[in-house]
Amino acid sequence: MPIPCFETVEQVIEKLKPGYPVYCLRPAEIDRQARFFLDMFPGRVLYAVKCNPHLEVLRALYEAGIRHFDTASLVEIALVREHFPQADCYFMHPVKARAAISTAHQVYSVDHYVIDHVKELEKLIDTTGGGDGLVVLVRIVTPEHDAQYQLSDKFGVPADQAAELLRQVHKAHFQTGVAFHVGSQCRSPEAFVDGIKTALEVIAEADVPVHYLDVGGGFPALYEDDQPPPLEEYFDSIQRAFDQAKLRRDCVLMCEPGRALVASGCSLLTQIQLRKDDRLYINDGIYQSLSETVFGKMKLPTRLINPYRSISSTSQDFTILGPTCDNLDILPMPFHLPDDAEEGDWIEIGQAGAYTNAAATRFNGFFPETYVSVAAPPLMPTTAGS
Ligand SMILES: Cc1ncc(COP(=O)(O)O)c(C=O)c1O
Repeated sequence: MPIPCFETVEQVIEKLKPGYPVYCLRPAEIDRQARFFLDMFPGRVLYAVKCNPHLEVLRALYEAGIRHFDTASLVEIALVREHFPQADCYFMHPVKARAAISTAHQVYSVDHYVIDHVKELEKLIDTTGGGDGLVVLVRIVTPEHDAQYQLSDKFGVPADQAAELLRQVHKAHFQTGVAFHVGSQCRSPEAFVDGIKTALEVIAEADVPVHYLDVGGGFPALYEDDQPPPLEEYFDSIQRAFDQAKLRRDCVLMCEPGRALVASGCSLLTQIQLRKDDRLYINDGIYQSLSETVFGKMKLPTRLINPYRSISSTSQDFTILGPTCDNLDILPMPFHLPDDAEEGDWIEIGQAGAYTNAAATRFNGFFPETYVSVAAPPLMPTTAGS
């Protein structure tokens, strides 16, 4: 069923008077971001479904032209393939259950897989029979740069062991590829250049034909107090490094962004349940949509709204507390809001499209799941060419 559509967030409030959190999707913004990536990135663009798997988000991306999806689980693969049968899924989690691999392969015709260990290669050979036009990408560790999350802490084969793994992939008659992830919310285009450099060293040492180079996600979104370089700088750096590489002519360059595609495409409408001095208790928190304020220190833009009264023009810092009984459920940075904020006012939280609903738990019985669509632009612009 399509989600309800509104012109503005104020109209959402007037119609629903929501005492529960509401995700306000901006399909036009997602469309803009997706087209920007498709036009400007010098290769194939996959969307990392884990970042926001809501069907309306996937639909907006698909309608903008995204046809390739980085999926981490069988559930994500089923979601994409059932709703968009023409789309391709890539199974990009380096550690997969055997049953998930065989179902992905046999039921959903997935033919791209990532590994970072020889035992995972053995699993793929056992479950798929090997070869048969399947692609196996070896995920490598790349040098650390200024990223908010360092994904190489968990996944990737060290560069000095990667060539041997790549040779074994080739020997098992799979098409080969090399993949990396520079870390999420990466503020340095150079991270991608270094990643490509490392991948090229591995490829040269392995001395086997390589069909895919996947530079991963990590492209940044804008947050308050966090203004990374424009995405064009990332794309230019990647293009230069790829053009200088002596790879097969038909080697496919890919990326798999999540955050940069969808962060700006959704805001979160919350409500103040109680004010105690400079503490505002709201109906969403770190166990629901706002865990990234803690794990990633992301400071999200906010605005106070109440169409039923005039709001003070002077502001002050507030502490925002989530709805659960847990004492950790307090946002770790102050928020500057009108000083007469009170119970019943709404707070719109911007840049809330990435790793929000995707990471929400049902802790204490709170679970945000209402989505509406809003035509008005987002609270903050994005790094996509303005
Ligand atoms: C394998 C893989 N690809 C892509 C992404 C998306 O990263 P980002 O949202 O930083 O673009 C992630 C995020 O965890 C990932 O693990």
